[in-house]
Amino acid sequence: MQRLLVEGGRPLQGTVSVSGAKNAVLKLMAAALLGDGKFIIRNVPAIKDVFTMIGVLKALGVKCQLEGSTLYLTVGDIQGEAPAELVQEMRASIQIMGPLIAKLGWVKISQPGGCPIGDRPIDLHVKNLEKLGAIFEEGYGYISAKAKRLVGTELCLDFPSVGTTENIMMAATLAVGTTIIHNAAREPEIIDAQNFLNRMGARVFGAGTGTITIKGVKALSSTDYTVIPDRIEAGSYLVAAAITGGKLRIQNIIPKHLTALIGKLQEANVKLDIASDQIIVQGQDTIYPANILTLPYPGFATDLQPQFMALATLANGTSVVKETVYSNRFGHAHELRRMGAEIIVDGNAAVIKGVKQLAGAHLYATDLRAGAALVLAGLSATGITSITGVEHIERGYENLVEKLQLVGGKIWREDEV
Ligand code: EPZ
Repeated sequence: MQRLLVEGGRPLQGTVSVSGAKNAVLKLMAAALLGDGKFIIRNVPAIKDVFTMIGVLKALGVKCQLEGSTLYLTVGDIQGEAPAELVQEMRASIQIMGPLIAKLGWVKISQPGGCPIGDRPIDLHVKNLEKLGAIFEEGYGYISAKAKRLVGTELCLDFPSVGTTENIMMAATLAVGTTIIHNAAREPEIIDAQNFLNRMGARVFGAGTGTITIKGVKALSSTDYTVIPDRIEAGSYLVAAAITGGKLRIQNIIPKHLTALIGKLQEANVKLDIASDQIIVQGQDTIYPANILTLPYPGFATDLQPQFMALATLANGTSVVKETVYSNRFGHAHELRRMGAEIIVDGNAAVIKGVKQLAGAHLYATDLRAGAALVLAGLSATGITSITGVEHIERGYENLVEKLQLVGGKIWREDEV
């Protein structure tokens, strides 16, 4: 196992190039199962979750080849049972359910894994795929479903669930008739999925709004597509500049995907110069407190809550963070307290009283974004911070260590003794 070591106290300076979006590309890879023939997906991040999804697709019969950031897929005869050991590694594995039920008429996968940030049921996925005509059977630790032909319908999600919206959207592309999803999630990754599906010959409209309409077609083909930039990776680097008092140019991004974070960073006295595909961020000596309420997009992203909390630990006042999307996403608070942060967690709220300085400590990354928050805190702390649980962080950040080293970050990997 490896750990990360971070020596803080250096303002970051330079340019960071953001990679393709983890939470988009994993769904496009699943959506390819609906089509036929040779796909080219560009701007693919070389991260653990992509390699896991490649493993899942290969097990289903898809030929996969990742060359740099370009992924070549050949979809021909596929089967619908995914290997448990891969599915359990990553929550996004459930995104193959919709496509396989629609394309093959059956699917069998184990209960998915993923970050331990609260109970992450898939009841909304199951309930709404059933409304399209899928018949589910749950065994010990696995889920299987079948359907002769899915039939379009009008449905309303209990919660604007990203994954559920995507599974239904994908399944409905090959259903008979029209499907309308009300209370749909509005994340940019869903718009990316709509664009990808339509390039395959689907008829999907409305992604990015709360109502998505899908007119079923007989069959889908393949396409050549470029993934959107990763807004969560971009946001993490914006906070990196703010927390180290440095100046970074964050490029290859879509600033409008970061509106909520931009507003909160400006509230925290961070200076931002926003262009069409990049942001120049200048940290300041004084960080102001800011209150955060995580919400489905376009509200403040839950995936940026841990990173912002790290910044708030150094504010000249008290900030309140309310986490409304997950039931247990404050694992990083406990670790930040080891560095001298003053954080009180009460249910889904955390009160952060800013301190002058954090001190390096031995920390554990409980999940992907918590790990990123700890790296950011380490970059600002005095002394050396060591972080175990690196495998969580490597799932979602391409070349994190190398990108930070390029802008002056003193961070390196070490084999755990
Ligand atoms: C996606 O997860 C992202 N993952 C998450 O990012 C992100 O936090 C989340 O959307 C919200 O933005 C990927 O895209 C791979 P949800 P997803 O369905 O689709 C509950 C990261 O760090 N829920 O919108 O699983 C669920 O428990 C990851 O990159 C049900 O109760 O998110 C959660 O509390 C972490 N039943 C809430 O809804 C269901 O059937 C949000 O889940 C489905 C979800």
